Amino acid sequence: MTADMPPSEVRPARDPVRKNIALLAVPPNLRDYDATCAGFSWEAAGSLLDGLPGGQGLNMAHEAVDRHLHEGRAHKVALRWVGKDGDRRELSFRDLSEETNRFANALASLGVQPGERVFVMMGRQPELYVAVLGALKARCVVTPLFSQFGPEPIATRAEVADARVLVTTPELYQRKIQGLRARLPGLQHVILAGAQGAAIPATYRWDDVVAAASPAYTIGPTDPESMALLHFTSGTTGRPKGAVHVHAAVLAHRVTGIHALDLHDDDVFWCTADPGWITGTSYGILAPLCSGVTSVVVEAEFDAQAWYSVLEREKVTVWYTAPTAIRMMMKLGVQAVQPYDLSALRFAASVGEPLNPEAVVWGLDAFGLPFHDNWWQTETGGIMISNFAAMDIKPGSMGKPLPGITAAIVRRRDDGHIETIDEPMVDGELALRTPWPSMMRGYLHEQERYAKCFADGWYLTGDLARRDVDGYYWFVGRADDVIKSAGHLIGPFEVESALMEHAAVAEVGVIGKPDPIVGEVVKAFVALKPGYEASEALRRELLGHARKQLGAAVAPKEIEFRINLPRTRSGKIMRRLLKARELGLPEGDLSTLESDEVKTSPVSPGATS
Ligand code: PRX
Repeated sequence: MTADMPPSEVRPARDPVRKNIALLAVPPNLRDYDATCAGFSWEAAGSLLDGLPGGQGLNMAHEAVDRHLHEGRAHKVALRWVGKDGDRRELSFRDLSEETNRFANALASLGVQPGERVFVMMGRQPELYVAVLGALKARCVVTPLFSQFGPEPIATRAEVADARVLVTTPELYQRKIQGLRARLPGLQHVILAGAQGAAIPATYRWDDVVAAASPAYTIGPTDPESMALLHFTSGTTGRPKGAVHVHAAVLAHRVTGIHALDLHDDDVFWCTADPGWITGTSYGILAPLCSGVTSVVVEAEFDAQAWYSVLEREKVTVWYTAPTAIRMMMKLGVQAVQPYDLSALRFAASVGEPLNPEAVVWGLDAFGLPFHDNWWQTETGGIMISNFAAMDIKPGSMGKPLPGITAAIVRRRDDGHIETIDEPMVDGELALRTPWPSMMRGYLHEQERYAKCFADGWYLTGDLARRDVDGYYWFVGRADDVIKSAGHLIGPFEVESALMEHAAVAEVGVIGKPDPIVGEVVKAFVALKPGYEASEALRRELLGHARKQLGAAVAPKEIEFRINLPRTRSGKIMRRLLKARELGLPEGDLSTLESDEVKTSPVSPGATS
């Protein structure tokens, strides 16, 4: 924690949402929290997994797909896909097994080796799910990439990971990737799903290499500790970090599916997240499939009415969504929900950003169910802290640690050691006792950055939190400058770097500006090079440049010109000071301030897009 950090926001106290297990439609998996935690061991939980036949190790895709063929679910619907135009497609566990076998065979026919990186970048269409699981069968390392990324975030991630294969669509390829091929010499194979007509040079059509491949495949021996997924996340500085997850993580997906999401065999589950972000992989693909439930996949982007229709028509029973979407639904009011029969819905959960206490309670009014907030990170691989189905909810709290997870509020001492803060309601850094199965095993090629996350047997999350007397955890804020917008983690450095590439820009500082719907919007402060005049036209040009390079989800929504920006003596732009001034908060400790910004801006300050 640094001295110049903005003061934490204390959430309003609300009455707890009481639970009466006897009144719940389905008895929860986790009924007695303390007893389950006391009796839990990851070793014993290992019996929930099947393992590869013949003791050949552990493979995520076997647990998610193939095991169900001999457990009586071959004909059960694994994925129910709802397309943008309302078309639907169902894949049974057998269909999914065969499709993913074809994909694994296609990789083999291209000479792709286990351990090589396969990037999958497309909207939520069936091929995405087939490619991710098929590549896991082939023991490749999978990186799902957000399809709305611009060329720059794609290229950076592909360079860091040395991507060998990319699975995408013709449209995304032509718009974003073709122009990057020269920069990515390691990218040997591009497979285009839905490609029709004449082949695009240097690519393969899905139908030629995947659909034509054999539906029979045997997964090779898989070391549970071998790399399976590489998910990129952002820090305050430097390139995005590739968090390494291994096949053994699947045990955490399975266990958290049972305890945090309360999945039962006959559930219809809908995770609204995109697999380009880890929630959409861990809980949009792995956890529900491992649990053998039917998972709904919706291709279209958020639209409240369309979402209510999906909940009604597909008879969704368990729904995992995010605060930004919930706040957008709240704006439309309870009356927008009333025409729909949502009686199948029995459990609703939320993740990714702070969930307002009023949103938890709004769930009760709108759906007859509270939203159950839970907390985790790309680095933790799965849900770590959660409000459980059988437990009273304190609105505004993230809940309690999962069975098998020990959390604490800690302070980093100057000598590098960790001190736990045992008194309740004291702010500190949220830490988790190592290890657990889905804990990241590294940041790819960045041992030093990885090592900094751990001390004295604790993983340090970089989040500030407090714990109350009943053991509930409350989110306070981030200890760093990383921005959370609509649930997406955005590194300010990545945004600054893209703006710095513009000829007019001398220096940039990027902050997250609080927003009532998306949590934070990205705002950039820009100082221009001599010879350039701040103007509305230039502001628009810079917004457009950033959007083209980074994609809409990452690019700043606001740009404000400054004559210069506040810097530390070592030359670092003081984003915290920019933010404190933007928000009218105390400026904190300015002892390291070298040059101060000129506060008046040459064009109308606060001008937005
Ligand atoms: O700051 C916390 C916030 O999201 C960060 C993790 O983001 P990401 O790595 O993209 O993880 C995605 C998987 C959820 C955390 O460090 N965060 C996550 N959940 C919550 C949250 N902040 C407040 N409340 C939450 N429930």
